[in-house]
Amino acid sequence: MIYIKTEEDIEKIRECCLLVSQTLAMLAPLVKPGVSTEYLDGLAEEFILDHGAEAPCKGYYGYPNATCMSLNDVVVHGIPSAKTIIKEGDILSIDLCTCKYGFIGDSAYTFAVGNISDEVAKLLKTTKEALYKGIEMAVAGNRVGDISNAVQTYCEARGYSCVREMVGHGIGKSMHEDPQVPNYGRRGQGPMLKENMVICIEPMINMGHYNITIDKDGWTARTRDRKWAAHYEHAVVVRKGKADILSDFSIIEKALETR
Ligand code: MF3
Ligand code: CO
Repeated sequence: MIYIKTEEDIEKIRECCLLVSQTLAMLAPLVKPGVSTEYLDGLAEEFILDHGAEAPCKGYYGYPNATCMSLNDVVVHGIPSAKTIIKEGDILSIDLCTCKYGFIGDSAYTFAVGNISDEVAKLLKTTKEALYKGIEMAVAGNRVGDISNAVQTYCEARGYSCVREMVGHGIGKSMHEDPQVPNYGRRGQGPMLKENMVICIEPMINMGHYNITIDKDGWTARTRDRKWAAHYEHAVVVRKGKADILSDFSIIEKALETR
């Protein structure tokens, strides 16, 4: 069942998504060598609560933290840990949700730690560009497969692979609503996109093969070949002609410039 949102619902989701972006912007200058992912997670949770919101990832099917911190070969759902210390040259995807007024916001950004190799920088750039290629297709009258195909085509043409087992999703009163939004697929296939649907588009892109494994903790999704992966996510409203992006990377990138 795909829920169509009212304008009032959308403004609530927008506020949640902007708080996600503000949280990521707050963390941005702190994503540096020597810092643990647990420390960053604690700051994020405090920031969310201080802004009158909740952190709905914590407790979601037993997930232990407010954020997912996915380092290098971890694609998504990395559990923050005091033992995971980030170092120069790493990449860290931070994915988090906020909840306010009964609605949820969700967005993710992959950060470079200090200087990263040209090869890895290209992975990040391509994954972010693929997200915007997908968003271009998130207009009323298109189908989910048009988004999926745009992401897949863009990444595969550049030598990367698109994770199959994890997908984007609708969002609203629940973190994961219909429709599923895969990062691979065929044009013209899947559910029709209608005005005021809200969906999260989140390319999870690997340098090597698309296969992943899940660690014994039941969450950490890692590339099977242990090559690195990147992940960016925006929540968007499907509109006529052009999607409305609810999360905001510009404040994150402004915070990065001043670090
Ligand atoms: N933003 C994540 C997603 O869309 C949510 C993390 S799952 C959780 O998959 F269990 F950590 F909450
Ligand atoms: Co998501």
